[in-house]
Amino acid sequence: MKLVVIGAQWGDEGKGKIVDYLANEAQIIVRFSGGANAGHTIVLDDQEYALHLIPSGILYPDKMVVLGAGMVIDPVAMFNELSMLNERGIETEGRVFIADRAHIVFPRYTEIDRERDLKRKQPIGTTGRGIGISYSMKSERDGIRFADLAWKQKMDELDRADRDFIEPFIDRLRPMIVDLSYYLKHRHNAQILFEGAQGTLLDLDNGTYPYVSSGMSCAAGAAVGGCVGPRALDGVLGVFKAYTTRVGNGPFPSEFDKDSEDDLCRFVRETGREYGVTTGRPRRCGYLDLVALRYACITNSIDSLVMTHLDVYDALDEIKACVAYRIGSRIVEDFPASIEDLNNAKPVLRSFPGWKRNLSDRLTYEEFPTPAMEYIELIERFCETPITIVSVGYERKATIIRKSPWRT
Ligand code: IMP
Repeated sequence: MKLVVIGAQWGDEGKGKIVDYLANEAQIIVRFSGGANAGHTIVLDDQEYALHLIPSGILYPDKMVVLGAGMVIDPVAMFNELSMLNERGIETEGRVFIADRAHIVFPRYTEIDRERDLKRKQPIGTTGRGIGISYSMKSERDGIRFADLAWKQKMDELDRADRDFIEPFIDRLRPMIVDLSYYLKHRHNAQILFEGAQGTLLDLDNGTYPYVSSGMSCAAGAAVGGCVGPRALDGVLGVFKAYTTRVGNGPFPSEFDKDSEDDLCRFVRETGREYGVTTGRPRRCGYLDLVALRYACITNSIDSLVMTHLDVYDALDEIKACVAYRIGSRIVEDFPASIEDLNNAKPVLRSFPGWKRNLSDRLTYEEFPTPAMEYIELIERFCETPITIVSVGYERKATIIRKSPWRT
């Protein structure tokens, strides 16, 4: 079986934890998009691991992980991450592979990325990891792929600085490089997880362009960047938080009071630890945006949703979610492409009673307080999509499975 896990908001939905949890039943985990801009946090035995490039299945000793063809990979960042894992007792030798069609991020891309964003009239607020530059080099047909490392003429043509940078890595990279199409074809009976990065609303095509990242964060990207056809994929899981966050600039209709850092914003940011894993920036926070979530369900063919961070709301008397936008005199229920509309959109909020109880010690969905169940079931009805997993804490055990996606 082949399952896709993607973010259904603006990234940071908790995909790392969910991929780590589901990887228990997988043999191979393929990250299909993005680069070191991503930050996936996993908590295991009270230890926190922040991963940027290495797929989240790595913490199991027996899983194979692949950095897919849709990724742009900075070798320094990748080897640093592997060293960090090794130092903490995670053996990675012989388990980490790189698709030969993935692109290399050179140091100069990072510098250009930062300079270019600063020069924009409306900066995107990139993570400054050279991601956009690498993807634009790719689409201009000037990028360098891992496959090219064995092509002498191409290596000879490289700029001096690029060649000096990459050459010391070649011997270590060589045994890791695979043709992902055939690697997966030869393992067609394996349980495979395709792990997305960022989220639907940061997807280059489906997101809030130009305030997006440059890779394919939507489910279709799993096929392209994972080197399989779309019909090979058996299911799509969309991960979302019980509220919404965004890092960087761009429209965010359900953002908590934009003018003052109100108490709710502070409460959610601190309780949910809403600071970027890659940049440390405080995340912008807001109400759950059901208009955007329903759009993510439609545009990704999401079969089931995974709700995370529900426990962050444990202490609140009242919970609100955005069910439509007011744009001028219009009430809009479909997520607009127009940035002007999104900038002008005011959230139409629906209120729910809080549950005022600790969810993190519940073992089954049936033990949830009624108001928490009502919140969950309203989201399911609104999005016409079941919520099959609810996460109520960072640990693997704080995960309530209503229906396992591995079983159809
Ligand atoms: P870039 O991917 O570094 O070019 O950044 C483009 C936009 O995507 C910026 O607003 C970033 O903050 C945002 N972004 C990129 N990666 C992530 C992520 O993993 N989580 C959340 N936001 C991200």
